[in-house]
Amino acid sequence: MSPRAKPPKSVERLIEAAIEAQKRAYCPYSRYPVGAAVLTRTGRVFAGCNVENASYGLAMCAERVAIYHAVTSGNDSIAAVAVVGAAAKPCGACRQVMFEFADKDTPLYLVDLNPSTGRRSINRTTVFKLLPMAFDPLASGLLPQNPRNLLRRKLNGRSRPKPRSRPRRK
Ligand code: THU
Repeated sequence: MSPRAKPPKSVERLIEAAIEAQKRAYCPYSRYPVGAAVLTRTGRVFAGCNVENASYGLAMCAERVAIYHAVTSGNDSIAAVAVVGAAAKPCGACRQVMFEFADKDTPLYLVDLNPSTGRRSINRTTVFKLLPMAFDPLASGLLPQNPRNLLRRKLNGRSRPKPRSRPRRK
């Protein structure tokens, strides 16, 4: 997307949410704040920022915080994702997590925001472009169908797992 092309309203709202989230990043170790926001198929927006820890390996990326935020709120279908950071690009782990909840052509807006001028450049790409050979549970034969549909069927009660039998009392 050229810097001058105006994105649609829903994308504007998504990017604004990611910019706000970036301000809340907890990144005292890297000093690299990232904000992300997820647009669900029902038009809701969920944001996330990176959250670091003194035990460095526990840091969680903004993208995954936003996606898990949406999933926790009952939304597991991602329509678009925005990421805001200096030369923002999702890491490999986040790309695989996006692949789980998005379609291969789900748009991803990478927003490079210059905090001193407020100028932003937006690069529109897709999950598939960023992760062309994703680990795919269908292709690998791990599951017979889309994991999200499996879960929905379960929640709707059509394919409930058998209740565990209670241990007999003596
Ligand atoms: N980080 C993100 O939040 N998203 C990315 O896509 C890349 C990296 C965070 C993790 C860590 O808090 C900091 O940026 C430096 O790696």
